[in-house]
Amino acid sequence: MTGKQIKELNIRFLKSSPEETLGFFLRESKGRIVLSTSLGAEDQVLTHMATQIDPSISIFTLDTGRMFQEVYELIDTTSKKYNINIKVYFPDAEKVEEMVKERGINLFYESIENRKLCCNTRKIEPLKRAFKGFDIWISGLRSEQSVTRINTKLLDWDESNEMLKLNPLFNWSHDQVWEFIHKNSVPYNPLHDKGYMSIGCQPCTRAITKGEDIRAGRWWWEEAESKECGLHNRP
Ligand code: ADX
Ligand code: SF4
Repeated sequence: MTGKQIKELNIRFLKSSPEETLGFFLRESKGRIVLSTSLGAEDQVLTHMATQIDPSISIFTLDTGRMFQEVYELIDTTSKKYNINIKVYFPDAEKVEEMVKERGINLFYESIENRKLCCNTRKIEPLKRAFKGFDIWISGLRSEQSVTRINTKLLDWDESNEMLKLNPLFNWSHDQVWEFIHKNSVPYNPLHDKGYMSIGCQPCTRAITKGEDIRAGRWWWEEAESKECGLHNRP
């Protein structure tokens, strides 16, 4: 798809609700569109919306092997509630073994290079496998989440995966997400009620305190500008 076509689609759906946009793409691209979920608040909203439109939509999650127990429980609860099969992708065992042998089990605290290697091994490589056979990626990115996400659009071209990326909640606020969750009784991670706003791997996530940025609890020892794991905003 050309940049011009993407721009036109962005204009076309500018005033549409996330449900309307999702509805269009789920119908037009049936079988070629996939939702990636971290089981975070935004992804739970998208899972709810998407399964109401197409109960057979493909959904996957990346289990890095370092997730919170609450995430595993939520995979189970969500699958049962919506009667779906969330496909779980795991990292390549040999690559993880090699990395841990060379750099240690908690290598990510030691340098940004180590942290990126870990994210690469545990998330990016499995992500590539998860995308096989799909053309459109639905993600829960919102532009107000962080400095690295300000330019998030509804539709974008994802260069590293050569896919169209659809961010139906790109212009939603934090309050809109939570209003939707409560109004529709969407299951969510109980850690959100304990100050965990954005939830990733357990060793790389902490709760935030009042006034802190939503993603301040992710890789909190790093500068805000470097805090992407490579799933999004790859150079
Ligand atoms: S992250 O890149 O820093 O981890 P974040 O937690 O904000 O991202 O989630 C943004 C989007 O990335 C989610 O809406 C989801 O589409 C995708 N994502 C993040 N983590 C995972 C995961 N473990 N499995 C599948 N998708 C994920
Ligand atoms: Fe590794 Fe932390 Fe990245 Fe998870 S978030 S893959 S534990 S560096």
